[in-house]
Amino acid sequence: MSRIAYVNGRYLPHDVAAVHVEDRGFQFADAVYEVCEIRDGHLVDPTLHFERLERSLGELRIAVPMSRAAMLVVMRRVARANRVHDGSLYVQVSRGRSRRDHVFPSPAVRPTVVMTAKPVARAKGEALAETGIGVITVPENRWERVDIKSVSLLPNCLAKQAAKEAGAREAWFVDAGGFVTEGGSTNAWIVTVDGVLVTRPAEHGILRGITRTITLKVAAKLGLKVEERAFTVEEAKRAREAFVTAATTLVMPVVSIDGSPVGNGAPGTTAPALRAAFHDSTEMVAI
Ligand code: PDD
Repeated sequence: MSRIAYVNGRYLPHDVAAVHVEDRGFQFADAVYEVCEIRDGHLVDPTLHFERLERSLGELRIAVPMSRAAMLVVMRRVARANRVHDGSLYVQVSRGRSRRDHVFPSPAVRPTVVMTAKPVARAKGEALAETGIGVITVPENRWERVDIKSVSLLPNCLAKQAAKEAGAREAWFVDAGGFVTEGGSTNAWIVTVDGVLVTRPAEHGILRGITRTITLKVAAKLGLKVEERAFTVEEAKRAREAFVTAATTLVMPVVSIDGSPVGNGAPGTTAPALRAAFHDSTEMVAI
């Protein structure tokens, strides 16, 4: 089936959809993005994604390119054109196209907006969640503003490639103090031997994941105790459970860290319970 991509007001065949060579997203990674889950023909948590996108744009002083209502119209059309019932939707907004110069174009140019959607088999994610994934740890080497969801993801790509080459699925960045910040494309969590959920505060050093936000909500509903604090790799290795969260993975059990099994080396009970209850707490908007 042919895929369709949205680029600056046009719906184009995926193969030929492109931005200009002097787009600042391409030249400088001067762009932000969102990845939203599509589930059962619904967009999951669009409001939280709009809020975060607008915040990221604001932090970089890129104009909001269109209203939420307009963006939702495009999202629907892209999801439908690609016949995505379950999968993900990608939105990127760059500062726009301008003659190469590090400083912002003045006057400002029109931001570039790109959207794509792809189907992802739900069964695959569920099968992976049954076995869990391995993570490796790598030194934190990203810039300080990882709270901005920018497309400047080279350290993340290198870390995730290293994970793949080590037979793992995710890499956890570890700061100079030995504390886990987050994964290459996920937030990191542990469940202590006392059953307390621990995840790093989102004030500094991590992206405030939307799946993380919802997971905190689900944990409260399930009556689980939560501590938002940093944890070390050693503490994670001694934990009863570990897991990661992202729109692409949902709540995904972690069963090994740098080759050491977490708990008994199989998913525990907390992460699967959070995963199972997750979509009872999300905003679902039909596409
Ligand atoms: N990544 N931390 C990082 C560095 C991420 O890139 C992501 C998401 C998350 C989780 O955020 P959320 O729960 O809102 O998906 C945390 C997306 C899925 C990606 O880059 O593909």
